[in-house]
Amino acid sequence: MEVLLSEEQIQQRIRELGAQITKDYAGKDLTIVAVLKGSFLFVADLVRHIHLPMEIEFLGVSSYGERTHTSGVVKFTQDLSQPVNDKDVLFVEDIVDTGLTMKYLLDNFATRMPKSVKVCSLLYKPSNCKVHVDIHYLGFTIEDHFVIGYGLDLAEKYRNLPYIGYVVK
Ligand code: IMP
Repeated sequence: MEVLLSEEQIQQRIRELGAQITKDYAGKDLTIVAVLKGSFLFVADLVRHIHLPMEIEFLGVSSYGERTHTSGVVKFTQDLSQPVNDKDVLFVEDIVDTGLTMKYLLDNFATRMPKSVKVCSLLYKPSNCKVHVDIHYLGFTIEDHFVIGYGLDLAEKYRNLPYIGYVVK
């Protein structure tokens, strides 16, 4: 396996994202919505660099389809514990690949009447983009690799790696 992003690179970028989010959300009613399972490490590290009062919610989603391809049909495996109406919602995702999952979530959340909705994603893979999604806070743009580690899985394994890598064919 090839390392794409080291633990140090990831942590440095998260510090920068946290500082930017802290600045932008000062005085707002921030609710972080972490999209599970993939964002569990990212959100845990990110929120420790956001120096503001906030609420943290977890949304469980999984997409039907092949192991390494998104079908775009999203299944909720866990919904929020609190309503988000009038909240400034910030989605925290591991990766935007085709964009279908994030688009589905944004459409779904529009009906929940939040005050604002923005997206923070650790990774963006433009080569597979099927639907455009605005990513307001982005960690890294990556090449067309199936990546694993730091929350990202291959058949539910490798999420615990502290870095992000890809399998060399
Ligand atoms: P999208 O709907 O295609 O944008 O993909 C959303 C979900 O697919 C992500 O939240 C990941 O869980 C999964 N995914 C997409 N690309 C990768 C990858 O390279 N490695 C691991 N999971 C991925």
